[in-house]
Amino acid sequence: MSKDEIKKLLSKIKIDYSWSFADKTRKDTAYITHGYHRYPAKFIPQIVSRLVEKYTTKNDLVVDPFGGCGTTLVESKVLGRKSIGVDINPVAVLITKAKITPISPIKLEKAFIELKNKLNFYSEHIKVQLPIHDRIDYWFKPEEKRKLAFIFKKISELNNF
Ligand SMILES: C[S@@+](CC[C@H](N)C(=O)[O-])C[C@H]1O[C@@H](n2cnc3c(N)ncnc32)[C@H](O)[C@@H]1O
Repeated sequence: MSKDEIKKLLSKIKIDYSWSFADKTRKDTAYITHGYHRYPAKFIPQIVSRLVEKYTTKNDLVVDPFGGCGTTLVESKVLGRKSIGVDINPVAVLITKAKITPISPIKLEKAFIELKNKLNFYSEHIKVQLPIHDRIDYWFKPEEKRKLAFIFKKISELNNF
């Protein structure tokens, strides 16, 4: 099919601007857990919500094989659908888990207080295991690396979490 034929074919299709969600601001798309973390080429959650509602019913299974940071899984959960997400990037998987795992607010508050207390004891003399990654020095200064490694260690030591 030539370029002109494609253009002609597309010109016959009526554009439904209600799918553009062009009026949505960053704030509008950051509700519930969507704002936890930035991620490249994230879906507008309102689009996913509308698609899931239009094409599935309660308890259906929604699959996103390029799940990114889990927009589809969050919206599926909100609408009472089961869902599975897959992503090659472990950071995307971690963000998704954080966004869809229900945590008891009481348990969360206890853990937060415990963590805050542990972090009061930070000192540059405490030994920490620094992660090995070839890009880490590009992103973090030595002191930031140490502090983050300390925070990670203390999170790992939290009781029952
Ligand atoms: C545009 S992002 C998806 C963002 C997602 N729609 C959201 O709202 O968070 C595309 C994702 O595909 C993942 N990806 C690329 N190649 C993949 C592969 N072969 N298998 C699984 N995931 C892959 C990338 O890691 C990236 O997270």
